[in-house]
Amino acid sequence: MKKLIINGQKDLTGEIKISGAKNSVVALIPAAILSDEEVTLFNVPNISDTKALIDIIELLNGKVEYKDEVMKIDVKNIENKLIPEELSKKLRASYYFMGALLSKYHYAEIYFPGGCNIGSRPIDFHIKGFEKLGAKVTIEGDKYTIKANKLKGARIYLDFASVGATINIMLAAVKAEGTTYISNAAKEPEIVNIATFLNNMGAKISGAGTSEIKIDGVDYLSSGVIDVIPDRIEAGTYAIIGALTGKKLKICGIIEEHLEALLSKLKEMGVKLKVEDNNIIISKSRSYKPINVKTLVFPGFVTDLGQPMSVLLTQANGMSIFEETIYENRMGHVKYLQKLGADIKVSDRTAIITGPTPFIGTEVVATDLRAGAAMVIAGLIAKGTTTIESAEHILRGYENIVEKLTAVGADIKIEEVE
Ligand code: EPZ
Repeated sequence: MKKLIINGQKDLTGEIKISGAKNSVVALIPAAILSDEEVTLFNVPNISDTKALIDIIELLNGKVEYKDEVMKIDVKNIENKLIPEELSKKLRASYYFMGALLSKYHYAEIYFPGGCNIGSRPIDFHIKGFEKLGAKVTIEGDKYTIKANKLKGARIYLDFASVGATINIMLAAVKAEGTTYISNAAKEPEIVNIATFLNNMGAKISGAGTSEIKIDGVDYLSSGVIDVIPDRIEAGTYAIIGALTGKKLKICGIIEEHLEALLSKLKEMGVKLKVEDNNIIISKSRSYKPINVKTLVFPGFVTDLGQPMSVLLTQANGMSIFEETIYENRMGHVKYLQKLGADIKVSDRTAIITGPTPFIGTEVVATDLRAGAAMVIAGLIAKGTTTIESAEHILRGYENIVEKLTAVGADIKIEEVE
């Protein structure tokens, strides 16, 4: 267990470099086992989710070399094995080994994944997709056994444009016989990153980034290379921090189109920001307009930035409405914002936030990854000391967060808790 201690109300100035995207790398590493040779990933973030996936690759007898953001994965001697519960439960993305192992061996044995407690998060769309490709899925308690004599291309319609199901079905279909179409596919930039990687290995995937993806099955995947895209959620989190504490804070290495929904909302509030090349320069203003934010699938406002954004809304001048539409339980952070001084009323998945309210530092908890990011933002604007318990959640998704914030002037440190 870890805790973060923040002494707030410092102006932040200087540069923050954005790391590779968590939600890309967590699919790229499982996708690597589809190769019959060796693959190389660049711009790999050093976060705990990356380490959890390396443990699974090593369990399967793969060799991983990871240094200076470059990860080489040698899968020539890989073996199919049961992925035990203690490994699958460490993160959500362990479920990508279902699609990858099914694709490669026509057999996968793995337990239900872990991840943030932000809703019920079933994986029925993934399972239905595997079944359409010809697999038989047996579920005993939390253990999934997925097998197929042969995988055959199919037309798969997703009831909801699920990121995980789109990627998992892409992985499962990449070596299937014939053509697979995924309709109502998710369009998030991470999906394009995974499809590009698979195509670099020799796959034939088109349409990634649109709502219909076509996959022509191939027999062999060779070595592949990919740059992990910049983490749009990390970039968005630091942009929100900039709007509250920045003095020409420069957030470097972003892709503007991936952040359009957030940047447009920030501008609507009156945030002073400039996007130049691949950087955002952002400074705090005296007062902000209240706005309404509703989370949606890409290119809408991303659910992972809803909680961080809600902190900014507490500092707007009047009443804002924040509505979460993807998960049932994205309001775990609200009671801690209230403890710090926020005026927020929650009804089901909607929060009515009235500002501006000063925050006074206190003890809070990171109930999940993005709730934790919201607590960091709150701690940076609070007067006095804020202590964030269960900070290990934050380290799952934010590389070197303490070092990055310290370098631009924040007073933040991390401690182990007995
Ligand atoms: C990914 O989760 C991300 N995780 C999430 O990031 C992110 O919030 C989410 O996509 C949406 O952008 C990873 O990439 C590892 P979904 P995923 O399938 O793929 C329902 C973070 O903070 N659903 O798009 O699991 C589901 O319950 C994390 O970094 C089903 O009902 O999300 C949810 O309501 C949190 N059945 C909605 O669809 C299914 O089979 C969207 O989920 C699959 C999903």
